[in-house]
Amino acid sequence: MDRDTILILDFGSQYTQLIARRLRELQVYSEILPPGTRRAALAARRPRGIVLSGGPDSVHDKGAPRCDRGVFELGVPVLGVCYGMQLMSHLLEGEVRRADRREYGPAQFERRGGLLLKGLSPSTRVWMSHGDSILRPPDGFTVVGSSGTNPVAAIEAPDRRLFGLLFHPEVVHTEEGTTVLGNFLDVCGCRRDWNASSFIEEAVGRIRDTVGDGRVICALSGGVDSAVAALLVHRAIGDRLTCVFVDNGLLRKDEAAQVRRRFGERLRLKVVFVDASRRFLARLRGVADPERKRKIIGREFIEVFKASARKVGKAGFLAQGTLYPDVIESTSVRGPSAVIKSHHNVGGLPKALKFKLVEPLRELFKDEVRRVGRELGLDEEFVHRQPFPGPGLAVRCLGPVVRDRLDLLREADRVLAEEVRAAGLYRSLWQSFAVLLPVRSVGVMGDDRTYQYTIAIRAVESLDGMTADWARLPYDLLARVSNRVVNEVRGVNRVVYDVSSKPPSTIEWE
Ligand code: XMP
Repeated sequence: MDRDTILILDFGSQYTQLIARRLRELQVYSEILPPGTRRAALAARRPRGIVLSGGPDSVHDKGAPRCDRGVFELGVPVLGVCYGMQLMSHLLEGEVRRADRREYGPAQFERRGGLLLKGLSPSTRVWMSHGDSILRPPDGFTVVGSSGTNPVAAIEAPDRRLFGLLFHPEVVHTEEGTTVLGNFLDVCGCRRDWNASSFIEEAVGRIRDTVGDGRVICALSGGVDSAVAALLVHRAIGDRLTCVFVDNGLLRKDEAAQVRRRFGERLRLKVVFVDASRRFLARLRGVADPERKRKIIGREFIEVFKASARKVGKAGFLAQGTLYPDVIESTSVRGPSAVIKSHHNVGGLPKALKFKLVEPLRELFKDEVRRVGRELGLDEEFVHRQPFPGPGLAVRCLGPVVRDRLDLLREADRVLAEEVRAAGLYRSLWQSFAVLLPVRSVGVMGDDRTYQYTIAIRAVESLDGMTADWARLPYDLLARVSNRVVNEVRGVNRVVYDVSSKPPSTIEWE
């Protein structure tokens, strides 16, 4: 497909992937490449424009990453952001001063004309994160903006269509950043027609190229990412994809049945359902230590998956729902050596099985995956599912994991989910779930003394799961949940609400 592309050279900034994401939001396709990608390789991709990202180095550092000087002679617009701007200035013989310290944080930017800054307010808030600064821009460049401490905060050579910004337009704290990036796309002459369905078309083509007439296997976890990956592969190669869904006995109420209905019946994927619950629970018998639980579950999963893969027949490829945040340094300055974080749910699978990987979502963020999922026919309810840990209820059933205690937990969790949904809070919470504590305490029901378990309710708000705050759930909701749990779940006589944030606590209890 012929689509307008912006190439981003990555000099190691933590914001590089955000540039790509913002361009996608502006409906233009972009690709992130290693900084030293040669001119010919860049030209071969026929980009409409090139962005040089920020990065942690000084252009004067030994070994600081460089780009091919030919980048500036490709005849397409180039935008240097922060380190990218300094490098552009340095390579084109401007003067860059090494800074004693980094400037980091918000700044007020004063605009003085400029093609790239068209439509911006005369004074606007921007986000700075830079070390070096520019004393003198290269010949042919004019200064089009400054900030308090930086007289040269934006430069451009409009006839050569070269632009430099000291601030980060991709960061939300830069108020009018989207306008700036939009202007760049206009200068590049990009059509704004890239969206979820073009992503699908693109990804399907790439999967076909990679897989050829081979076969692919995919472990469905029950979550959104593996589901979307599977649907993409299915669209590309149809029934040469086989999915495996392992019921490890640690799923939530009705979860296995839902997977069967959704993927097997409605979406018509070929899914091998493996009920391995006995096997998992047997291995977990008597184990209370959370790390041991995780190890056992991880190991068993590989064993079960291996056995199912053998039954499915020869598949050379494994599809995984790895997202951008799972990719530690795909195209970093330190080289294009794609280091992958072992995926929580299928950790160790590729290594153990010598599959080639198919990871069609590697460039996307979660909300983008949701959009793609919707386009592929996934229902709204599923697409907005709260995260669920790979080791399942084992981490929420504190102490030894046994069937009857799992059943209590499942019921309590069902009640909570029903009430949270009924209150219209399911989507706004990052997670809401029940935890079964390994202690029993005395209670009274009717005229009888009881000695039963405690359920802890956990509900948190979070953007990415890295930090979280406990949700201020309405008391009435907590009252209903508590009431229903002790009445409907035989074996529980006490409900508590967890009011800890992360850090210092974690989201899961374990
Ligand atoms: P913690 O408990 O570390 O969890 O604050 C952060 C987020 O990660 C989820 N989580 C997991 N997800 N496999 C997963 O797919 C796992 O092993 C796992 N452990 C924790 C957790 O639910 C929360 O959203």
